Amino acid sequence: MKTEQLVRTFVEYFEERGHQRIVGSTLLPPPGDSVLFTTSGMHPLTPYLEGRPHPLGRRLVNVQRCLRTTDLDEIGDATHLTVFEMLGTWSLGDYEGPRSLDWGYGLLTEGLGIDRRLLHATVYAGDGRSERDTASLQLWQDRGVPVELTVDDNWWSNGPVGPCGPDSEIFLWNGDGPPRSTPTQDDRWVEVWNHVMMRHRRLGDGSLVPLPQRNVDTGLGLERLASLLQGKSSVFEGDLFEPWRRLVPPLWRLEESSRRLVCDHLRSAVVVLGDGVRPAHTGRGYVLRRLVRRVLTVLWREDPSYGLDDLPDELIRHTLDHFRQDMPPAGVRRLLLDEERRFRLLMERGRQVLARPRFRGRLTEEDFRYLHDTHGLPRDLITSLSQG
Ligand code: SER
Repeated sequence: MKTEQLVRTFVEYFEERGHQRIVGSTLLPPPGDSVLFTTSGMHPLTPYLEGRPHPLGRRLVNVQRCLRTTDLDEIGDATHLTVFEMLGTWSLGDYEGPRSLDWGYGLLTEGLGIDRRLLHATVYAGDGRSERDTASLQLWQDRGVPVELTVDDNWWSNGPVGPCGPDSEIFLWNGDGPPRSTPTQDDRWVEVWNHVMMRHRRLGDGSLVPLPQRNVDTGLGLERLASLLQGKSSVFEGDLFEPWRRLVPPLWRLEESSRRLVCDHLRSAVVVLGDGVRPAHTGRGYVLRRLVRRVLTVLWREDPSYGLDDLPDELIRHTLDHFRQDMPPAGVRRLLLDEERRFRLLMERGRQVLARPRFRGRLTEEDFRYLHDTHGLPRDLITSLSQG
């Protein structure tokens, strides 16, 4: 099943069950939001989870693009992407968790044809914060799906304060042979869908208070499920990355995890540019800058003659088309190349400055400050130059 078809099947399934589709899905959070990028499907819905009536009603479905910098160190493995899409559903004070899980189970098994013996669930075991989620446990037992009880892995929050609650996660077996063990013991169980019983709010002092309504918030990582349905064990093997798999290896000789990182970060940079962000030394623009610089660092480590000039237009266009962004590919290319030029100059300057006797040996905090304030050299760049 192609990714586009998976999206259609998901959205229609929930539309048939009374959900309205939210349209528009930029990476930029609404004005006044303190985070730099949308990090999950529920994020733009925070005010509605907290009780404000949503103009589209109490049952919603959405495809939301997200960017997570918290997972940057994981990029290169089989399941993480910096920019990814999340399929999401919400009950804003309408139906409760067991119904959500039951629909989720129905969609995975009947709608998408997944063998139910390949599923495993986890459920919140209960602790001082909240009691055991017996309703979810019961639902899974009734459906014959094995359940593991955990505490911290089954509590979801978007940050230290705000809406949060116990969750029930659905895992799909991705190993050879019959399923074994449990999700916390064996990482061949891949998490595909999280259903959060979003009914608490954590306050600044750490205490929990009930939200004005009992919500359910679910999120399913699109690329991850699509690649599993396509019989692939890595998101980079799925249909969305087909042009990257075809065009990048002949261009740049890289080992597997570096190639994944380069593809992930370049694709993410294109999407971020497509949503209107420009490289800068702070905020969103700095995240973008770091993505591009990390790509260049990896490429130059392999071969200093590698560069973004070689990046095929097809990859830029494919990404912009998939995310329905209307920026011209030539504009994206120009910005990437500007950024590369700037970084090359900075690297040269950095090398010259760091060659001075004063900077031999271990650098002090004062050195870092001086190098930053006087020469514009960020700490991560100094560190990589001193190591390289
Ligand atoms: N908030 C949950 C998540 O991001 C479900 O949407 O996983």
